[in-house]
Amino acid sequence: MTERKRKGIILAGGTGSRLFPATLSVSKQLLPVYDKPMVWYPLSTLMQAGIREILVISSPRDLPRFRDLLGDGSQWGLRLSYCVQKTPAGLAEALVLGESFLDGAPSALILGDNLFYGAGLRGILEEALEQESGATVFAARVRDPNRYGIVEFDENGRARSIVEKPEHPASSWAVTGLYFYDERAPSFAKELRPSARGELEITDLNCRYLEEGALSVIRFPRGIAWLDTGTVESLLEASEYIAAVQNREGLLVGSPDAIAYEEGWISRETLIRNAGRCGKTEYARLLRSLA
Ligand code: G1P
Repeated sequence: MTERKRKGIILAGGTGSRLFPATLSVSKQLLPVYDKPMVWYPLSTLMQAGIREILVISSPRDLPRFRDLLGDGSQWGLRLSYCVQKTPAGLAEALVLGESFLDGAPSALILGDNLFYGAGLRGILEEALEQESGATVFAARVRDPNRYGIVEFDENGRARSIVEKPEHPASSWAVTGLYFYDERAPSFAKELRPSARGELEITDLNCRYLEEGALSVIRFPRGIAWLDTGTVESLLEASEYIAAVQNREGLLVGSPDAIAYEEGWISRETLIRNAGRCGKTEYARLLRSLA
């Protein structure tokens, strides 16, 4: 049996209420992080994992803007599809909404506001891609564990439990917003019941895999950055971080254009055309320098 090709889902829903008034009339995931729209970063992460068929999920209000920004994906050698999430009914609903798109394929779900960066990232993604059955999630150290899904590890370093926004956190390892699932995720997600806050929790889906011993938790080593964009301060810090890396190294971070070209998914002509769309900016100049 040959393995079905893994497909990606970007969930860019939510009301962005923690960033009001900046997000009163525009989706958080369309705001800039330094020089590019936030959603380009998670899109780039999926592309770095070699995933080219991707579903974008957002609210009825914002989905047309994502479509406008990202198109059919052919400018990056991708195939993009779109789906509305009528109400913010929880992260795990992305797998239910994505069921027909996935059509029996394994998936990688990423949250539209999660930024990952680091030299070791590609290697870690490959480790997750090698797992053909079960689920793989990633854990990163955080200072404020009450805000996340938190993993408790046993003495052998294996995950024992995951608790969503615990009052008394068992560790400082938070589950990040990037999840690799086998083909069973949509049917597992459909069996979930809404939590106390009325959402289909991604943590409950991960616990389902954990209960049957089918969940791998990969801890990020030092040097892999998981950037938060949840508050105005952290959003500003993320922009400063990306600016510092790009301006120091002269390399683009979170650029679907650069990744598509490096992967050989688009031609030099397409790269130059894409740069043309970005005017006389530094971003366009860096793209042209790649070509
Ligand atoms: C969600 C998940 C949580 C995870 C976090 C990562 O939280 O429920 O488990 O740690 O994303 O960004 P939310 O940001 O929806 O509160």
